[in-house]
Amino acid sequence: MRKKIIAGNWKMNAVKEEAIALLNGIVEQYNTYNLSPNKSVIIAAPFPYIDYCATQFSNFQFLHAAAQNCSEYEQGAYTGEVSAKIIASLGVQYVIIGHSERRQYFNENDFVLLAKIKQAQLQNLVPIFCCGEPIEVRENEEHFSFIKQQLSHCIFHLTPQEIKNCIIAYEPIWAIGTGKTATQEQAQEMHAFIRKEIENKFDKPIADSISILYGGSVNAVNAADLFVSNDIDGALVGGASLKINDFSTIINAMPS
Ligand code: PGA
Repeated sequence: MRKKIIAGNWKMNAVKEEAIALLNGIVEQYNTYNLSPNKSVIIAAPFPYIDYCATQFSNFQFLHAAAQNCSEYEQGAYTGEVSAKIIASLGVQYVIIGHSERRQYFNENDFVLLAKIKQAQLQNLVPIFCCGEPIEVRENEEHFSFIKQQLSHCIFHLTPQEIKNCIIAYEPIWAIGTGKTATQEQAQEMHAFIRKEIENKFDKPIADSISILYGGSVNAVNAADLFVSNDIDGALVGGASLKINDFSTIINAMPS
């Protein structure tokens, strides 16, 4: 059975007091969450908080810390960078790779993203690999070929063993932070397409085992509708993950 995951991506938000309050809020509400070995919560806080996050969550079986990025290099003279090795040494288990904001504002290309994924996996971090098309691509009805290209230029270079240890997040760029969520049909259609592409490249058991999350304006109101889809295994939540009650509602909107 595929793992269900609700991941919060705080992006560059929350000063220390806010970060602590949010993490404490999650821990306090833990007993109200319908989590299980098959369903967990991941929080990708900014780097300064990931140590605290991993420490706080270490007592809770189904809460996990993530980083929002890692370096493509293993270690050394790369001022300002944070390696997968450093992240893993804190007890953090996941890392978001290839978010559209990293691709767009920091020019991260497929080559760099693949190197980051390799670094992450060398340290036993699970990459959450993001893909998603801009609005003009969807309007031109080229979204399937666009996503296929993002997959084939990056994670399709992994071995079967490596891809099995990845999570994929489909995040249409036009839905991120815009309040304009993909419809349940649009999201399900793309998730099924991604799964089929994985099957074609690798095999069906691998395709059936990989969790594919949807991201883009998921909120407390629309989450339950999205989660009825067969191929939507959870969400990568931005803005709504900064509001504890909304995030808790999203967590419980996914059946365990
Ligand atoms: P959003 O962000 O939920 O604020 O749209 C999602 C993301 O970028 O991961």
